[in-house]
Amino acid sequence: MQHKTIIEPFRIKSVEPISVGTEAERAQCLKDAHYNPFLLRSDNVVIDFMTDSGTSAMSARQWAGMMEGDEAYAGSRSWERMEREVRDLTSMQHILPTHQGRAAERIIYGHLGGPGKIFISNTHFDTTRANIEFSGATAIDIPIAENKDTALQHPFKGNMDIGELDRLLKEHKGNVGAVILTVTNNSGGGQPMSMANAEGIAAICNRHGVLFLLDCCRIAENSWFIKHREKDMEGLSYREIAQRMFALADGAVMSAKKDALVNMGGFLALKDDTLAEACINLLIITEGFATYGGLAGRDMEAIAIGLQEIFDPHYLDYRIKSTLFLGKKMHDLGVPLMLPIGGHAVYVDAKKLYPHIPPHEYPGQALVGELYVLGGIRTVEIGSVMFGTYNAEGTLQPAPMELVRLAIPRRVYTQSHIEYVVETFEEIMKRRSRIRGLRITKEPKFLRHFTAHFEPLS
Ligand code: F0G
Repeated sequence: MQHKTIIEPFRIKSVEPISVGTEAERAQCLKDAHYNPFLLRSDNVVIDFMTDSGTSAMSARQWAGMMEGDEAYAGSRSWERMEREVRDLTSMQHILPTHQGRAAERIIYGHLGGPGKIFISNTHFDTTRANIEFSGATAIDIPIAENKDTALQHPFKGNMDIGELDRLLKEHKGNVGAVILTVTNNSGGGQPMSMANAEGIAAICNRHGVLFLLDCCRIAENSWFIKHREKDMEGLSYREIAQRMFALADGAVMSAKKDALVNMGGFLALKDDTLAEACINLLIITEGFATYGGLAGRDMEAIAIGLQEIFDPHYLDYRIKSTLFLGKKMHDLGVPLMLPIGGHAVYVDAKKLYPHIPPHEYPGQALVGELYVLGGIRTVEIGSVMFGTYNAEGTLQPAPMELVRLAIPRRVYTQSHIEYVVETFEEIMKRRSRIRGLRITKEPKFLRHFTAHFEPLS
């Protein structure tokens, strides 16, 4: 029999209680947090969809592996396991362990960046952009044009605009730090990219003699989309698809907190000996010795095992289809979404949900507040709060899209949690015309969304 129901392909062995407060309590908590979800206490959150990063439930095998962690400063057995696993997956010679993705970013973009340098991506993730800009370099996003139309259906809406890449590489000849393919395109709606796109980028980078890097923290989820949507790919396993994509690149940055199913970890993988040597020096100065970086031996065990589990076809099928389940239910309610639904999250188009709130009054942040007060659901704005900039006159230059992301932690929530979220959206839809925007009362220079304070407009 072919079942229609997608079950969680695991049983629950250990549980963590959720405290469910009242709407009035949450309204006060939100006010105390200056209307910024990053400043909320997690004890006051019912469903935490802020991120899928570091929030996975580890398997019994991973927990058992942690007991075998070898905590030696140098030459640890756990490091050998992790290195073997990552090398087998990426076919890259040099593997540098880091405590999370942005540590790898700081090392590689700090080294390659600097004033006058240009980095080009389908869409830079916020920490990627921040590390590049912090070095003095410039980050340019060139997603395909279809990416900006949230309602448009396209199988690989996370793709990079290859024609524009070629043009930019000619224009900035000699100044390009690297071309970065973010797999999947997190800030661009969690959309996947095709193997053909990665092949095209690799060919152009080769021709221009420019470094091609993968920001690969959701590459297993991306492999699911390639296998099911791209011609001639269905015969390959998910792991083989990922291996093929890694083989095209000169290096990779991975936040293991996503597809490696761990709570902390990351790595930088490189082919080039000279570049690796420079990065290893920085690794030792800032993260730790080359055989642990910023990680404990037990973390490295969990990463090695997680990187195997993530390619399990039953797991990946459940993962992508359960995200789709939430997206479809919201779509049926008429919630404007980034379509098609991606792998790790559902993205709401807040500009369309609240057309009466202009970008400088942050429609996405307004929805984030509503979801929290009504359902205790914590989400994150990916719009003008995260990516807005000011011009010389101090006027806000809005982001291309005003999205709110519902990122789903891996192996954590069940179908009834999802139904509860859908029910909350029924109420959101009823109230949509009454909702007001916010203004920022305090903000830092970099990554302002983490710590900014807001005030609701009356
Ligand atoms: N690259 C991408 C595409 C990411 O999504 C993230 C993190 C990073 C790099 C940085 O990795 O957090 O381990 O330092 N994304 C998280 C998120 C934070 O919520 O999407 P990190």
